[in-house]
Amino acid sequence: MALDDLDPRMPYQLAMPGEAQSDIVIPAVLPEDDRVWVPQAENVWFRPLCLNASQGYWVNLLKVTRAGILSRHRHTNPVHGYVLKGRWKYLEHDWVAEEGGYVYEPPGETHTLTVPEDVEEMITLFQVNGLMLYVDPWGKALGFEDVFTKIDMCRKHYTDCGLGAGFVDQFIR
Ligand SMILES: [Fe+2]
Repeated sequence: MALDDLDPRMPYQLAMPGEAQSDIVIPAVLPEDDRVWVPQAENVWFRPLCLNASQGYWVNLLKVTRAGILSRHRHTNPVHGYVLKGRWKYLEHDWVAEEGGYVYEPPGETHTLTVPEDVEEMITLFQVNGLMLYVDPWGKALGFEDVFTKIDMCRKHYTDCGLGAGFVDQFIR
C-alpha cells in the first residue's frame, strides 16, 4: 500500500511495546495545592514532574524566592532549563536567565543560583541528569543530590504534609 493511500488521521493500530513504561501527564505544572512543592532549603522548593530512576535524571520546577540561594554545586551531566517566571543568575556568570528563556548547562559546570533583589520569586523547569555535587568554593565535595535523593525527599515531605508517601509514585519511572 502506498503512503498516499493511508488516512493520515488513522491512529497507530498496535499495542505499545510490552516493556514500555507508562506516560506521565500533569495538566497543571503549577499546583493548586502548595503541599506539592517540596522544601529543599530556606526559600527554595522543587515540584517533581518526572523522577526517572531507570535513567538517572529528574525533571522538576525549581522555585526560589528573593532571599533564596541554591547552594554552589557541580554538574556531572547536562542540565536543560526553561524559565517560567521571574529572573535569576549564577554568581559565576554575567548573564541573566530571563522569563521565557532557555539555559543549557554543560557537564563540568559549577555554579550558585541567586535571585536578584527586585524579583519576588522565580520558577524554572529544570531537567537535571546524573549528579549535582555540592562543593565548597574550591570544589571540595560537601554532598550530592541525584534522582534517588530527590525521591527520598519527596517521600518524606509528602508523608509529613499528609499527601502520603505514595504521592510521589506517579512521578517515578
Ligand atoms: Fe545547576
